[in-house]
Amino acid sequence: MLQAVKGTRDLLPGTCRKFRHVEQTASQIASLYGFDEIETPILEPAALFLRSLGDTSDIVSKEMYRFTDAGGDDLVLRPEGTAGVARAFISEGLAQELPLKLFYRGPMFRRERPQKGRYRQFYQCGVELLGVESPAADLEVIACGYHMLQELGLSQNLTLRLNSIGDLESRALFRDRLKDYLLQHRDQLSKDSQDRLERNPLRILDSKDPGDRKLLEHAPRLEQMLTPAAREFFSQVQQGLKALKIPVVIDPLLVRGLDYYCHTVFEFTTENLGAQNAVLAGGRYDGLVSDLGGPKVPGVGWAFGTDRLVLLLDELKGEWKRTPSFALIPVGDRAEALLSELAQELRRAGLRVDLSFSGNLGKRMKRADKVGATAAVIFGDNELNADRFQIKHLKSGTQSEVPRAQIIEELRRLATQP
Ligand code: HAM
Repeated sequence: MLQAVKGTRDLLPGTCRKFRHVEQTASQIASLYGFDEIETPILEPAALFLRSLGDTSDIVSKEMYRFTDAGGDDLVLRPEGTAGVARAFISEGLAQELPLKLFYRGPMFRRERPQKGRYRQFYQCGVELLGVESPAADLEVIACGYHMLQELGLSQNLTLRLNSIGDLESRALFRDRLKDYLLQHRDQLSKDSQDRLERNPLRILDSKDPGDRKLLEHAPRLEQMLTPAAREFFSQVQQGLKALKIPVVIDPLLVRGLDYYCHTVFEFTTENLGAQNAVLAGGRYDGLVSDLGGPKVPGVGWAFGTDRLVLLLDELKGEWKRTPSFALIPVGDRAEALLSELAQELRRAGLRVDLSFSGNLGKRMKRADKVGATAAVIFGDNELNADRFQIKHLKSGTQSEVPRAQIIEELRRLATQP
């Protein structure tokens, strides 16, 4: 039997509904902050990620779905959205539109080891704010992310971790110092960290290995190497978050795995998803657009894993609103003949209507229950003669008789009841 590719999933209707709820909430809140939606291609030139994420990042060194197509082009199924947005900014000539606020959503691909909350095809929603150098932009995007998580009912169960990795100068200095320190303790490092020591020592700060973590307690600290300008920038971000009453934990070990970051980096993490604890993550990337051959334009943004937020809603038994629906149940031939006409009338009035195409009253009531209908509209010869239909509220079991002309009004009323 053919199976879905390892690490990919079929999102069945129940799960899809939750995905759409999360995406729609994100899109609505993003628009409150002035972000407009952009959609960039899933296929991008491999060079885009090689030049932006860094050769030594896990994504570029081992996780990309990269292939040469029949025409000889070197392509990648995008592993993330920021590089594509920066590419679009350059190739679409959007420099006149700055500051630019963009929201996006869609599938991303990384060939990681699949586990709970980690897939090879997964989904992100993200925002990018281009063209603003000041910490006000960092605050704007973090506040927007926090607002979304609040709206989804998840903010109390998440921790916002924040760090500054400084400007390029601070970062290069820190990288050298950290490497010198770790080289002195090379033998005590885990195998993974030994491998990273040459390629990307900063990533060792992310290590979960207890021995590595112990060594890191005495390692040089990035904060000691921040230039005065970088220090001031970081302090303004912290003050701004305080003024906005967004709780934050400063995490000096937070570095993030992609090369394009500078200054602010942050992650909202959870204790409820096992090892995959980051649900929303991002930072500032002032060098990205120019590294890709565009003008010198600063940027800051984040992306959340839609799959992880859906899991978290499940885990915490969070609520997502389903649009109320109604079942139409005809009894007898005359009613059956009028069924689709009535269904269309209600749908044109904006009501969600489910039909079961056969079966007696009992069977159709069962289906109404199964699809989670709010109420059933029942009508047979008696109701048609009297021009009054029965409306049965499924949760409470109460039944009432409503004049035919008032059905739409009554269903709308039921649809808005909590
Ligand atoms: P990232 O940290 O690589 O950042 O991914 C952001 C989020 O995507 C993660 O926190 C996680 O929730 C989700 N995610 C990542 N990999 C997987 C996976 N294999 N399965 C399920 N979910 C996953 C970025 O992608 C940056 N582009 C974020 C950004 C935007 N920075 C600035 N602007």
